[in-house]
Amino acid sequence: MSRMFFVLLVAHSVCCAADLTGNWVVRDPLPDGTVRRTYFDLREERGAIRGHIRTRAQHYEITESTGGSEGFTLTGTMHDGSNIRTTKYEGKLVGDELHVSPPRRLDGPLVEMVAHRTQAGEGAMPARLPLPILHQVPANGLANTPPMGWNSWNKFASKVDDAGVRATADALVATGMKDAGYVYVNIDDTWEAERDGQGNIQTNKKFPDMKALADYVHSKGLKIGIYSSPGPNTCAGYEGSYGHEAQDAKTYAGWGIDYLKYDWCGARNIYQDEDMQAVYQKMGDALRASGREIVFSLCQYGKDDVWKWGPEVGGNLWRTTGDIRDSWDSMAKIGFGQTDIAPYAGPGHWNDPDMLEIGNGGMTVNEYRTHMSLWSILAAPLLAGNDLQHMQPEILEILTNRDVIAIDQDGAGKQGAPALKEGTKEVWVKELAGGAKAVALFNRADADATVAVTWTALGLKTTPKHARDLWLHKDVKLTGPTYSAVVPAHGVVLLRVF
Ligand code: GLA
Repeated sequence: MSRMFFVLLVAHSVCCAADLTGNWVVRDPLPDGTVRRTYFDLREERGAIRGHIRTRAQHYEITESTGGSEGFTLTGTMHDGSNIRTTKYEGKLVGDELHVSPPRRLDGPLVEMVAHRTQAGEGAMPARLPLPILHQVPANGLANTPPMGWNSWNKFASKVDDAGVRATADALVATGMKDAGYVYVNIDDTWEAERDGQGNIQTNKKFPDMKALADYVHSKGLKIGIYSSPGPNTCAGYEGSYGHEAQDAKTYAGWGIDYLKYDWCGARNIYQDEDMQAVYQKMGDALRASGREIVFSLCQYGKDDVWKWGPEVGGNLWRTTGDIRDSWDSMAKIGFGQTDIAPYAGPGHWNDPDMLEIGNGGMTVNEYRTHMSLWSILAAPLLAGNDLQHMQPEILEILTNRDVIAIDQDGAGKQGAPALKEGTKEVWVKELAGGAKAVALFNRADADATVAVTWTALGLKTTPKHARDLWLHKDVKLTGPTYSAVVPAHGVVLLRVF
């Protein structure tokens, strides 16, 4: 070996042993038996670090960096429609390991993760698959009234498991909620494990036997729902249906699944918002071909005017907003904001302002009554999101008020709309089958207030003959051209007039 070549070789190994360039992976085992992976695809060039970071459901491009192997920071940026998300990691090279700290959660501790070198390409986003030509997916004939049931996410998030779902099915029966119409028991995100050698989606340790669980739920006279994403990952970073749509639909059918919530999240790393219709059509077709009747719930936060094309992809309901939280501000902002899209709702296809928070503890009884009344006026799906095994009587009473449920489930399938908005006072009306109307007087103020409305403002020529207060369970005598009532702070008076 020439002396010159030897010197170059030494120089090269010195340079690159301390170089961050390469592919790195953190493998973080979770209690559910799945492994959370974070990938770093790094290049040190001209004094900067470039490349990508892929966390559970996000794919960031590194747009800023400081330092090098002895100590660095990385800023990742990703575009989500018109939103820009960023993340920041700090770390250093320690021997053969990359010690990295993800962004600190509020006041949480700085957690250090250890990444090891891995082969190039591992963790890269899969290539974009071609999308089908648009066509009309035949309607499945389901959800002639807004779906009713329960979903695990709002209360339990990742703490959902087989035992909890069985107990919830039992509680739906024992509390009388099933008799009141709540039939779907829907498992949200975090049930998924990775795929087997044939590409079949597996369940993680929390759900040892999905078919047995479905059989159990069915044995109670209930139906069962599940969750996935059109992307490679779900929102919580579990395996999505990307490239396995038909296979997953068949798996769900084989398990006996009756309802699929299909959440965009991970798909934003591959597709643009304007691809949504074709992406959702793919699963709509797959469900129709699965051999089972499965309600199709679109979850893409109301982007791309989903209400205009939701029925065409076989959708039975579609989220119209971002995620609800268990607070008055969140619920009121979502519920009172559903003003323009009423004409798009109807039997078989519904606007979905997100699942109920009733009973989760963040609102008062009056606020939860407003939540239930507003969702019913909106002909919204009624998916309870609370712990049904530990429910206060007043919460059960709200959820099972049959007169209010009847407004939601009315056969005409018309979504209500505001007839009057005066500051914090709002009156909403919903046309019911047979010419009756639901009239809701809302008080969004922090103090009790009198809310008044004239019948002509509601499109009635004369004062209705009958009225019933659906929360007081009392008939109301109507006299004259105006109706007024004292409505508690953040509360509602809900009437059925005919
Ligand atoms: C999104 C959805 C939620 C829930 C979570 C699960 O945020 O909008 O309703 O399904 O994902 O990860």
